Amino acid sequence: MADFGYDISDFCGIDPRFGTLDSFDALVREAHARGLRIILDFVPNHTSDRHPWFVQSRAARSDPRRDWYIWRDPAPGGGPPNNWLGNFGGPAWTFDAATGQYYGHSFLKEQPDLNWRNPEVRAAMYEVLRFWLRRGVDGFRVDVLSQIVKDAQFRDNPPNPDFTPDQDPFLRLLMLYNTDLPEVQPIVAEMRRVVDAFSDARSSRVLIGELYLPLARLVAYYGLNAEGVLEGVQLPFNFQLIATEWKAAHIDRFVRDYEAALPANAQPNWVLGNHDRARIASRVGPRMARLAAMLLLTLRGTPTLYYGDEIGMTDVPIPADEVQDPFEKNKPGMGLGRDPERTPMQWSAAAHAGFTTGTPWLRLAADWPTRNVDAQSRDAGSMLALYRHLIALRRAQPALNRGSYEALEAEGDVLAFARNHEGLRLVVLLNFGDTPAPVSPALMPRQPVVLASTDPARAGVIEGPLVLGPCEGVVIGTVNGEAPATR
Ligand code: NOJ
Repeated sequence: MADFGYDISDFCGIDPRFGTLDSFDALVREAHARGLRIILDFVPNHTSDRHPWFVQSRAARSDPRRDWYIWRDPAPGGGPPNNWLGNFGGPAWTFDAATGQYYGHSFLKEQPDLNWRNPEVRAAMYEVLRFWLRRGVDGFRVDVLSQIVKDAQFRDNPPNPDFTPDQDPFLRLLMLYNTDLPEVQPIVAEMRRVVDAFSDARSSRVLIGELYLPLARLVAYYGLNAEGVLEGVQLPFNFQLIATEWKAAHIDRFVRDYEAALPANAQPNWVLGNHDRARIASRVGPRMARLAAMLLLTLRGTPTLYYGDEIGMTDVPIPADEVQDPFEKNKPGMGLGRDPERTPMQWSAAAHAGFTTGTPWLRLAADWPTRNVDAQSRDAGSMLALYRHLIALRRAQPALNRGSYEALEAEGDVLAFARNHEGLRLVVLLNFGDTPAPVSPALMPRQPVVLASTDPARAGVIEGPLVLGPCEGVVIGTVNGEAPATR
């Protein structure tokens, strides 16, 4: 738990704090019985320093597992082999006095990097995938996928010309020689083959890559090969809604670019939040978070939302003496710590918000007695009600769940697009401004009807001109669901 689960000492076990293999099997069984899938986090880049592989690897230079990790001699004048930095502070190298070499770690020193150039490592890690696939898991979210291979010559990374001193010192260097190397791609294709072997006509297994990369490089992870087949991960996580400035024009631009960059038959995807970034309700504010929900669930592609965002949970300030995250401990006060977005899920007004009968390791948000699943389930105007409605609409409307994306030209702070499927057409209008926004009649279908609005008071047939409220979003269909004439 040096990095809360991202330091794994046994890839084929369940930490007793969380259960047993039996309880895991029961979870998969019961989830499947309810039509839910289970996707595990697969952490290929590193293990815990307590993993038996690493314990053996560090035991002696001659150990057969020595080459399973990244060991290098000190630089000629002494010190780390090169200038690479660890994500959570300090160099990416730790000296092992007993054997006189440094080992590499992209994150904490407790998280030594595996050597994916070694075929034995690859084979062992693919066995890990098979172990869980045999237990019935539906796929994997693959941690820091782009970083698993390092430069064969271990060259120094160049300075980042855009770095400013107020930033995380890690950003001082460009990760030219330890991320997104060409050697990663064939490994991704190997992983895909391992996973595909467990897919059948009834159910396919999925790989989702955690990839913070520029657009052109991100879409490369779909793995379009010379035959036009996609042999990479099915879903390279698209984090643009986390990264892009929250303005209609920026999002419009990115969606268009993303749609244009996708290889044929690639499934798009959109991520609104995760356990490493500030929560959406804190990033954009509570009102705009409702608009974000509508955006996420109406864009073309697989949506990913982070637990608690569906009830509008916000980041929780964590006092210094309660900090858990090593990111915060190692670089205090820079706002890098991830504890604020990792507080317990707020289920109900029961003790500890119904999350645990034990003592949670992070405090609850102050609003938990009222902002919880139980209370919001009974409130038709709640964030949860909005999410449930949008999810149901997505299921019911083929245009939303598999229709094409058509960018529309809107004015000012409004983002407008249509989703089309076999003559069915829905129009989505999202006002990113905090003032009312009249919608041009040219954007409206004939006989428009509101299928969803972030404003619980708006519903039904639209008579006359439509004016969106501040931060309001609407999904518009036509009366009787008829296909409107295309403009
Ligand atoms: C990315 C994960 O999302 C993050 O939580 C973790 O700390 C690092 N990878 C290291 O595994």
